[in-house]
Amino acid sequence: MGTESSVVAVAGGSGFVGRSIVRELAARGNRVVVLSHKPPIATTDRLIEFRQADVTQPDRLPDALAGTDTLVICLGFRNSPIEAPRRGRTFERIDAGGTVVLVAAAKAAGIGRLVYISGAGAAPDAARHWFRAKWRAEEAIRGSGIAYTIFRPSWIYGPGDRSLNRFLGLARWLPFVPQIGNGRQLLAPVFVDDIGALVADALVTPAASNATLEVGGPETLSMDSIVRAALRAQGRRRPILHAPAVLMKLATRPLTLLPSPPMTPDAIDFIVQSAQVDTGPLTAALPRHLTPLADGLASYLAPRK
Ligand SMILES: NC(=O)c1ccc[n+]([C@@H]2O[C@H](COP(=O)([O-])OP(=O)(O)OC[C@H]3O[C@@H](n4cnc5c(N)ncnc54)[C@H](OP(=O)(O)O)[C@@H]3O)[C@@H](O)[C@H]2O)c1
Repeated sequence: MGTESSVVAVAGGSGFVGRSIVRELAARGNRVVVLSHKPPIATTDRLIEFRQADVTQPDRLPDALAGTDTLVICLGFRNSPIEAPRRGRTFERIDAGGTVVLVAAAKAAGIGRLVYISGAGAAPDAARHWFRAKWRAEEAIRGSGIAYTIFRPSWIYGPGDRSLNRFLGLARWLPFVPQIGNGRQLLAPVFVDDIGALVADALVTPAASNATLEVGGPETLSMDSIVRAALRAQGRRRPILHAPAVLMKLATRPLTLLPSPPMTPDAIDFIVQSAQVDTGPLTAALPRHLTPLADGLASYLAPRK
């Protein structure tokens, strides 16, 4: 079991979700090693150190993990969920393969605690390949012999997210908010700061050891309701205009021929899927008041002047 003064490596600690984990762990007094596939950047925070670690180059991982005792894996390929197989940016290569090599390196380094950020819907027989990739990553964690916590979040929002902020950016310039699909997919929006707090809680809570926990915020809402709540937080009124997913998939099919497609039919399926969760086991293992959507949005979306 980790302690409040662990040395925690966070793979993906430079990303949207990973940054909140790094912030919270450092705020609780842990030393944090941020693993990124980009060259290290300097930081003025004495508790945070950046090290270069590309999961597609596993021979460099032992050096990156040296001196750490806990590993949090919060990996995603650039531009996820838009896969670019010719660039090696796929769920199978980064989410699944990256986790497999990190777990092997963690075992070799004597790491004593793992946390993995998976996704709601991970299953061995899931219809969608991204959920099968997440399952493969989870299985590497569960089979490692190292104490672990796996979180399966629904939909995460906050400063720096790439979905809600995209809609809000468009709403600044357009008289409407464009939305792929019918906007009726159900999500349990969870504030990104709550993910950081839950990860930090898990490291010091025996009940969260060797547990796989679905994570969602206190409300289950349609995507349209979430976008409307965000517009309200900004004091904007905009209609939401829906583009049928089936037409968008047809329109984006030729883009899959590009090395780095701006959108793909698979990514559209990803975007319009529901992500409902059962948070009973989470509440039992890690009791914590999770942020209601309106409060989370109000903490970073100022009403426009
Ligand atoms: N956002 C959500 O709503 C949500 C919901 C459920 C689950 N999740 C899961 O949470 C995880 C993180 O999501 P996110 O939204 O924070 O994604 P993100 O902002 O794209 O962050 C992905 C991280 O992975 C790192 N990375 C990419 N390629 C790498 C490589 N080859 N080697 C090492 N590191 C690499 C990136 O760092 P560098 O580029 O600096 O290397 C970055 O820090 C994902 O597994 C995602 O499935 C997210």
